[in-house]
Amino acid sequence: MACYSRQCFLCPRLWLVLALAVWPIVTEGAVLILLRGEVGGNVTFKSSTLKQGKIQYMYLQKDINGHQVFINGYYSGKHIKESPWPNTRVDNNTNEVHMFGLNMSHSGDYDLLIHYNNDGEPTKTIIRLNITGKYSAPSVTLVCSDENKFKSCIVTCASHGGFPLSNMAWKVFGTENTRNNDWKVLNKTEDLSKDTKLFTSSSTAFFNCSRGEMNFSCSVGGVTSEEHTVCTHQDPPNNPNLYVIILACLVPFVVVVISLGLWWWRCKKRPIGTAAAKDVVEELQLKGREEEITVLTESKEVTEAS
Ligand SMILES: *[C@@H]1O[C@H](CO)[C@@H](O)[C@H](O)[C@H]1NC(C)=O
Ligand SMILES: *[C@@H]1O[C@H](CO)[C@@H](O)[C@H](O)[C@H]1NC(C)=O
Ligand SMILES: *[C@@H]1O[C@H](CO)[C@@H](O)[C@H](O)[C@H]1NC(C)=O
Ligand SMILES: *[C@@H]1O[C@H](CO)[C@@H](O)[C@H](O)[C@H]1NC(C)=O
Repeated sequence: MACYSRQCFLCPRLWLVLALAVWPIVTEGAVLILLRGEVGGNVTFKSSTLKQGKIQYMYLQKDINGHQVFINGYYSGKHIKESPWPNTRVDNNTNEVHMFGLNMSHSGDYDLLIHYNNDGEPTKTIIRLNITGKYSAPSVTLVCSDENKFKSCIVTCASHGGFPLSNMAWKVFGTENTRNNDWKVLNKTEDLSKDTKLFTSSSTAFFNCSRGEMNFSCSVGGVTSEEHTVCTHQDPPNNPNLYVIILACLVPFVVVVISLGLWWWRCKKRPIGTAAAKDVVEELQLKGREEEITVLTESKEVTEAS
């Protein structure tokens, strides 16, 4: 066993190919190898009982819902009917198994069986593959407001594609004398994608800008964002669509002004009420201008009818 472990640590290829931890443990006659891979990465492993000699067969299988599923392997001089998993490759010379393009569904226990011609029985190595997902560098969005002369900002950090679950953590350091009550975490959420079985982790924090600028970074699963500054003069405003709001207020105002103008213009052109028309008629009668009286009486009738 010790020999195997030394072999692994000396083998640079295994290291390169993301075999991050390999500890052989004997369980009921079979050696258990703990192997770590990353989503999108590769792993390479081999049987713990490799030795000189002719191999009759070697294959890898996985227990999926109680069924032993063939993954890849070879049988000396025979053709194996079952087609191997497309993301695996077995090297007939080195007897290494390569798995590439890993995703969360590849984690679990595999049996690697090897049977030498001279041996009565095959030997089994259990490969326990533990897959992790590396969280993306947290993306930072900030929205600031300047209500009642109190400037404050709401900052959200979000990261995706991680496994296992990890909370978003904040690190805040002020440029002057930031106190703990100048900022607070409002919420933290973690969502598991049904498809990829990977987490999205995010958190929102509130920053009170009354004491000036603060620097912060957020981190999740060992990945830290760049350092950001909040409460600066150039912070984006709360309402980037300020023009839309101004326009929305202006439109009804303009409509009212135009209607008032039109109404006033119409009023000026002809009298509106019966009383007003009567007054004008009387005034004109006094002046004895008959022609205009007829016109105005007509207009009076029109307004009375309507
Ligand atoms: C994983 O294996 C694939 C196919 O063999 C190769 O193209 C890729 O470069 C490998 N990735 C890493 C990180 O070694
Ligand atoms: C977290 O808090 C912010 C600010 O109160 C809010 O906008 C956001 O919807 C919250 N997120 C969740 C998942 O509750
Ligand atoms: C994981 O890889 C297998 C191939 O081994 C593929 O069939 C499956 O769709 C992949 N799953 C995801 C979530 O990408
Ligand atoms: C911000 O902090 C100041 C004192 O430092 C306090 O008076 C003010 O109420 C705080 N504003 C908010 C919105 O918490």
